[in-house]
Amino acid sequence: MALLIRNGEIVTVGSRVQADIYVENETVTRIGKDIEAPPNAEIIDATGKLVFPGFVDPHVHIYLPFMATFAKDTHETGSIAALIGGTTTYIEMCCPNRNDDALEGYQLWKSKADGESACDYAFHMSVTKFVKETESQLRKIVADGTASFKLFLAYKNFFGVDDAEMYQTLELAKRLGVIVTAHCENAELVARLQQKLLADGRTGPEWHEPSRPESVEAEGTGHFATFLENTGATGYVVHLSCEKALHAALAAKSRGVKIHVESVLPHFLLDKTYAERPGIEGMKHVMSPPLRAKRNQAVLWDALALGSIDTVGTDHCPFDTEQKLLGKDSFVNIPNGIPGIENRVNLLYTHGVKRGRLDLDRFVDAASTRAAKLFGLFPRKGTIAVGSDADLVVYDTNYRGVVSAKSRHVNNDYNAFEGMETEGRASVVTVRGMVQVRDGKFVGERGRGKMLKREPNHF
Ligand code: URP
Ligand code: ZN
Ligand code: ZN
Repeated sequence: MALLIRNGEIVTVGSRVQADIYVENETVTRIGKDIEAPPNAEIIDATGKLVFPGFVDPHVHIYLPFMATFAKDTHETGSIAALIGGTTTYIEMCCPNRNDDALEGYQLWKSKADGESACDYAFHMSVTKFVKETESQLRKIVADGTASFKLFLAYKNFFGVDDAEMYQTLELAKRLGVIVTAHCENAELVARLQQKLLADGRTGPEWHEPSRPESVEAEGTGHFATFLENTGATGYVVHLSCEKALHAALAAKSRGVKIHVESVLPHFLLDKTYAERPGIEGMKHVMSPPLRAKRNQAVLWDALALGSIDTVGTDHCPFDTEQKLLGKDSFVNIPNGIPGIENRVNLLYTHGVKRGRLDLDRFVDAASTRAAKLFGLFPRKGTIAVGSDADLVVYDTNYRGVVSAKSRHVNNDYNAFEGMETEGRASVVTVRGMVQVRDGKFVGERGRGKMLKREPNHF
């Protein structure tokens, strides 16, 4: 069926124009003034509203066996929450651990999403060891349309790789033209600092941050960058949290290293005092890299405004309170992760655009377009243009709300951003031309999401 979105202000990177958008067969086919629609077309009046390209979250965890438990979402719950928040595409970290077979893991992750997700999705393939079959397996995975890898420098003996494995992965990625994302914290230092703190009786969630200080993340970031420099591969630092790590990434970039930076919602809005709250309240705010000293937030916002931080993801990783309590006797056992898939767009719009930290252009770029470009989805995703998928977000800038776990759609029992005010909300969200969300409610088709096949684009 045809869809006409009338008279909205269409916002894409480099352009703002008042016009109609006409959609046929899942694709934008016309953009212009006073487009006539056939009688059977669905018409949405966007007068007084902004129309954004569907937002892209480049870093989520939906299915995740991790730290003796499983993240709480399914693709059904996670994708509906994403859509209500304006995210029409997410890229999930496919994370088999070192003891798993990579190809079996890849099939398992795909099977969890297939027919379940209401939004479109893709994967970053984690390389958690490099053994004799790894190259041929990764070649098959890339040929299947998964054109980005993930390395963990942290999580020793589980997801973490050593330097030899990192080198081999990057060297292969360079040959394949595949971008490599990386969690950059020095695993050895984290393990040593954890042991030292526990030996001193420091067991509460407030010790999580001191066990992985800014210098440990900066070392990891610089380390990854040096390996990129010497292999020629293109890298993407995920969830960069602090000024020291940013300096390491930007220093590498200034020497010509092909390195991109993502920061995630919690690090812009929450600081380490949240994790210092006693007991379970602190545990709810444990993630890695940890929430940092507040002074880092202004640095991240400025870097985001300038584009030195390329993208804003969530690192959505939901656990229930009960799961967080696995770490009640020792912070090293608190499942790491904070959810945010439902809140990213609205909180970024509120605290970025409305508070004057980000212009609208950079907002769209950071939350949609740049991730689409880096990860081989553009111009199918990340823009509104003739020929693009009709993933559209009609955005009501007058809406006022408050984040609350009571109204959540994610599958865990708390919201780390509880009580924060929001200014703006998606009033209509479409995925390939079908209305999936209206006024904060999922009204669409479950399981409509497709896996997005991507070509390598970093030669
Ligand atoms: O604390 C986090 N970030 N949990 C999810 C796993 C990861 O490191 O991305
Ligand atoms: Zn990570
Ligand atoms: Zn993550």
